[in-house]
Amino acid sequence: MANILCTGIATLDIINTVENYPAEDDEIRIIAHEKRRGGNATNTAVVLSQLGHQCHWAGTLANDSDQHIILSELQAFNINYDYCDFQAQGKIPTSYITLSQETGSRTICHYRDLAELTFNAFKKINLQAFDWFHFEGRNIKQTMQMMQWCKQQYPDIPLSVEIEKPCEAICSLFSFADIIFFSQSYAHSLNYTSAHDLCQSIGKQYPEKIISCAWGKDGAGASLQEQYVWQKAVVIKAIDTLAAGDVFNAAMIDQQLKKTSLKSSLQYACQLAANKCQRQGITKLSRRN
Ligand code: FRU
Repeated sequence: MANILCTGIATLDIINTVENYPAEDDEIRIIAHEKRRGGNATNTAVVLSQLGHQCHWAGTLANDSDQHIILSELQAFNINYDYCDFQAQGKIPTSYITLSQETGSRTICHYRDLAELTFNAFKKINLQAFDWFHFEGRNIKQTMQMMQWCKQQYPDIPLSVEIEKPCEAICSLFSFADIIFFSQSYAHSLNYTSAHDLCQSIGKQYPEKIISCAWGKDGAGASLQEQYVWQKAVVIKAIDTLAAGDVFNAAMIDQQLKKTSLKSSLQYACQLAANKCQRQGITKLSRRN
């Protein structure tokens, strides 16, 4: 069991399941409607907690009526939120998600009106207690200072960062991480056409880091020094792909903490993410459908 600090967001996910993804200006029926806690950092923490780790979440929340959905799930998974910076103003970030039953695709419209965690708030955390730091690549200026601070104070504690969406100066985070989790959409934004191309090119600049790149239903690739490994994913029928990337990241962290090889880590992460896609939500992941 490791002590893991996950820094990033918690959201309220309002999920509408539809038979098929609609065309613009259509009117269709929702076949299931659900509210869940979401947000990449807390999703990753919920998975890590199921894998037996003690997780802590650092982020912000608004004091509004939806707060209990988030806090009660964090409590249920024994995730410590002492480092949550509660804001007097703003709203819980909310994602309106259309989940297609036909393909499992999840289309997210995200509404945000809440201050992000500041470096000043982060500095109050006692970092000594942790075995791993995981960051979401967002809120770039502040996150960069947090990552730099962690590396200055505790250079031997492994640090991972998720690079999911392109945003200005996001590459300023790379140098502080030991593992970088890239998404397929980020790779596409830089015109890479395969996980291999991204890993090769970014891996060349940072040979001592693990560069991982998930490639949707095809699988994922990862590199370290001269080595590149690819793992095919096997998804029989995707029914809910929401947070599959967060599950993948959690599984990679778990395996690296257990010091398994890059190939085995990737194998396990692809398997857990595939299991997730074949079921609703991110709980009971090791149970196959
Ligand atoms: C899934 C997710 C959702 C959330 C959205 C935020 O990865 O974390 O739970 O609403 O992404 O970008």
